[in-house]
Amino acid sequence: MTVPNNASQALQRIRADVRAMQGYHVQASQGLLKMDTMENPYRLSADLQKQLGERLGALEINRYPGERLEVLKKMLADYAGAPAGSAVLLGNGSDEIITLLALATAQPHEAGRAKMLAPMPGFVMYPLSAKLQGLDFVPVTLTADFDLDVPAMQAAIAEQKPAITYIAYPNNPTATLWAEDKVQAVIDAVAQVGGLVVMDEAYQPFASRSWIHRMKAEPERNAHVLLMRTLSKFGLAGARLGYLIGPAAIVNELDKVRPPYNISVLNCETAIFALEHESLYAEQAAAIRAERQPLIDALTAIKGVEKVWPSEANMVLLRVVDAGKAQAEMKARGVLVKNVSAMHPLLNNCLRLTVGTREENAQMLAALKESL
Ligand SMILES: Cc1ncc(COP(=O)(O)O)c(C=O)c1O
Repeated sequence: MTVPNNASQALQRIRADVRAMQGYHVQASQGLLKMDTMENPYRLSADLQKQLGERLGALEINRYPGERLEVLKKMLADYAGAPAGSAVLLGNGSDEIITLLALATAQPHEAGRAKMLAPMPGFVMYPLSAKLQGLDFVPVTLTADFDLDVPAMQAAIAEQKPAITYIAYPNNPTATLWAEDKVQAVIDAVAQVGGLVVMDEAYQPFASRSWIHRMKAEPERNAHVLLMRTLSKFGLAGARLGYLIGPAAIVNELDKVRPPYNISVLNCETAIFALEHESLYAEQAAAIRAERQPLIDALTAIKGVEKVWPSEANMVLLRVVDAGKAQAEMKARGVLVKNVSAMHPLLNNCLRLTVGTREENAQMLAALKESL
């Protein structure tokens, strides 16, 4: 197809680095058992669907979002047990908050460009947000068994003086929850260079610890720490609701770069509804956690699985002989998982699986066995 001259000229106005990059790829999943993105497998009961439908139907969608967001923020702060003196920022998923953090800290036109640091392999949106907003990304490689390399982190922080350091707690895709003393050592190192730390707790419903307790126990030592969470893995991936909790003085500055109406009245009310049924979601998370170790044990026993790592999230990372072939053959058998091999050399031939219901896990295990 020929591109008209005006269109091809207009295309040149889009940044060359953007034109050169690949977009975030969402795997087509229709008709497949979706075990690739750590979603909660449970839907609302018919009765709760009806109740939520009535609530959403009655909203004033002709109006911009308003005060109801304050109700949601208060509910989230209570749910998380936010420390005194903290404020909450809402994002259209925590992905948007990651973008806003980069936007608020980038200094692309100054001689000393701002930097973002994170252990890698880690969440892909950190380096992507840095690239798009003009921060230099500083990856610090994890140890071979995916532990935090504290001396390497301390050295990189002292040298690079990052504006933002991300710690995914637990980490994606390794599902590791790093030891508290190691994480605190990184946080202390960042304090020395005057940076922000973002504790990304996307997988908190499945983890044995949250950083919120450290923030409350030692508020001054953690006064430069922001806690980022999302309702996605909690069970609301479709509703898109992320939140950031931190000292009001910092959060209020970040809030200035947020598009004013980024949370729709529908997202907001859905999140309020879900928090009103918090115990239901807690039961779902407990059910998923209960299926995790049996899944890891079953994976470990499969011939052709070389290694399975422990997990503090609703995902399991494993190594097989040929991850590309295994992923394709599982897909041919109706099960979609993620081949993370290309993300980092340490992830060579690794697959990442979602922990689902017992039935889903059984179907996934059967497909994997046949695929190896
Ligand atoms: C570590 C981590 N942080 C943040 C997110 C973003 O989640 P969402 O934008 O759905 O809130 C994810 C999603 O997979 C993640 O793995």
